[in-house]
Amino acid sequence: MAAKPAIDLSISNPTQAGISLPDPFSIASVENHRYTPQASGALPARTAIAQYYAEEFQSQLSPDRILLTASSSEAYSYCFKLIANPGDTILIPQPSYPLLQFLIEAEGLVAKPYPLHEVLGEWILDREALLHHLTPDTAAIVLVHPNNPTGHFLTEADLAWLREISQNRCWLISDEVFADYRFDGHKANSLATLNAHNAFTLSGLSKICALPQMKLGWIVLPEDPQIRRHMELIADTYLSVSSPIQSAAASWLAARKSFQQPISDRIQQNLSTLGQSLANTPWQLMPIQAGWAVILRGPTHLEEEALVLSLLERGFSVHPGFYYDLPFEPCLVLSLLTPPENLAQGVAAILAS
Ligand SMILES: Cc1ncc(COP(=O)(O)O)c(C=O)c1O
Repeated sequence: MAAKPAIDLSISNPTQAGISLPDPFSIASVENHRYTPQASGALPARTAIAQYYAEEFQSQLSPDRILLTASSSEAYSYCFKLIANPGDTILIPQPSYPLLQFLIEAEGLVAKPYPLHEVLGEWILDREALLHHLTPDTAAIVLVHPNNPTGHFLTEADLAWLREISQNRCWLISDEVFADYRFDGHKANSLATLNAHNAFTLSGLSKICALPQMKLGWIVLPEDPQIRRHMELIADTYLSVSSPIQSAAASWLAARKSFQQPISDRIQQNLSTLGQSLANTPWQLMPIQAGWAVILRGPTHLEEEALVLSLLERGFSVHPGFYYDLPFEPCLVLSLLTPPENLAQGVAAILAS
């Protein structure tokens, strides 16, 4: 059995990547003296989240449309509990984040992939294939916007089309946890701004403030008092968000740029290293619009699984593309949070393969 790899090229936990992040407790005073639970979460936290949508997406949302959860993963599970019955199908993008399938199956639902195609480094939603997969048992279409690991946003036209085809047919759930990490001034919209009556938008502090340890996510609900009441019943059953974290959330969100800046600096530095190291090699750095991950596409004579195992033996752990159902081989998915010295060594090992 291979020894524990010394170097993790897939590290996506910002608290363990050697990034100098602000001390969250120097930003927020965390109050814990009283417990006054509210199903949808404390109003100051929900108001701060509404403010976030106003500042980032020029979208005026009532705090009544926000419901707090302990993470985006939990936000998914609340949506699935509300909108689907056991055995229903949830459409998910392929490639995408592997946890989706587990979150869906944990609710007794069936995950069905719809394809994204890569054309000259751009990812395109296959509308025809999606329509083909949309059947009467489809409860929802999940959008990962921007997607992990492709790092692409859906286009405005795609969002409008998805809204149109889903109306009176199924729900839309948009996972926007990486929306703030967009590059080259890329402008992107949030599904929350479309005010669709069948749309849920998910996000949370784990990426927006690089605070996965604080366990705070949320759902932007459609503007519908009945949906809100039903979602509150689900949330009230667990009351899973801790009160001290709710009391601190507004200050952390207000300081989000100070958490994001060191992460963005690390990402830019790593992208530049990768660009330089892979130039004039058989490896290709796939372009990204956003996110914390990047795909390296390798020469076709290499076999993906064998490559990843050989890197493991040499002390490097990295995600193979098949882990995300990427439609080409060989490719590797690297985290852009990787410490630069580790990345340089990892790239040297990859190029030597
Ligand atoms: C696309 C995507 N959504 C959601 C999550 C999970 O976020 P949270 O920590 O809020 O559950 C991740 C984690 O990496 C992710 O990549």
